[in-house]
Amino acid sequence: MSVVSALPFLKPIHARVPISPGRQRRHTLPASEFRSLNAEDAISVFEIEREAFISVSGECPLHLDEVRHFLTLCPELSLGWFEQGRLVAFIIGSLWDQDRLTADALTLHKPHGTTVHIHVLAVHRTFRQQGKGSILLWRYLQYLRCLPYVRRAVLMCEDFLVPFYQKSGFKGQGPSEIIVGSLTFIEMYYPIRGHAFVRRNSGC
Ligand SMILES: CC(C)(COP(=O)(O)OP(=O)(O)OC[C@H]1O[C@@H](n2cnc3c(N)ncnc32)[C@H](O)[C@@H]1OP(=O)(O)O)[C@@H](O)C(=O)NCCC(=O)NCCS
Repeated sequence: MSVVSALPFLKPIHARVPISPGRQRRHTLPASEFRSLNAEDAISVFEIEREAFISVSGECPLHLDEVRHFLTLCPELSLGWFEQGRLVAFIIGSLWDQDRLTADALTLHKPHGTTVHIHVLAVHRTFRQQGKGSILLWRYLQYLRCLPYVRRAVLMCEDFLVPFYQKSGFKGQGPSEIIVGSLTFIEMYYPIRGHAFVRRNSGC
């Protein structure tokens, strides 16, 4: 007796079940989807950055070629939130191998580093103040906990965003040595408890 016929509650995979019109495969895009980004998402990322940063200060964390660079080198350290197929929020990270961020961290990915440098978190203008930035960051940090080589996450932000990151569990590390134009930053870090015990109990 075959395994399938011995288990009557399992339908044989070759069974031809008629599909009613209501059950046909839907061709609509998922309402909400989280996934890693890739180089093909770079333009959508940069559109959000352009509005969020360039139109405000003339500067942005990553220029288009740098977005492509990181999404090619370490796409697994990015996370995008799509609604109906449209990018509404994203995070781009890379690996860093020192205690504090230096100017090199803005452009380099250090594959053997154990620190994730979050270069940018941004939410599309029309989706801000709805909790999306915090939710995306939370999901990202949960995901990082599942990567055995990651010990902490770091970022630099302007003064006014320190409370936002504190609410997500980041701690201040003092002023960053990096200055971009007239902008100064506070460096913040988040300890990723990547030990085996925590990973075992975190659904990784
Ligand atoms: C900062 C940002 C990512 C927050 O995402 P969001 O989805 O709007 O934020 P949430 O709805 O999850 O959280 C709202 C909280 O964020 C904080 N916040 C968001 N934007 C802020 C701003 N411009 N100034 C000060 N606080 C801000 C507030 O603490 C707010 O809390 P409140 O509701 O009690 O006032 C988003 O506003 C954004 O993309 N801004 C432009 C790009 C940017 O500055 N990115 C950060 C780079 S380090």
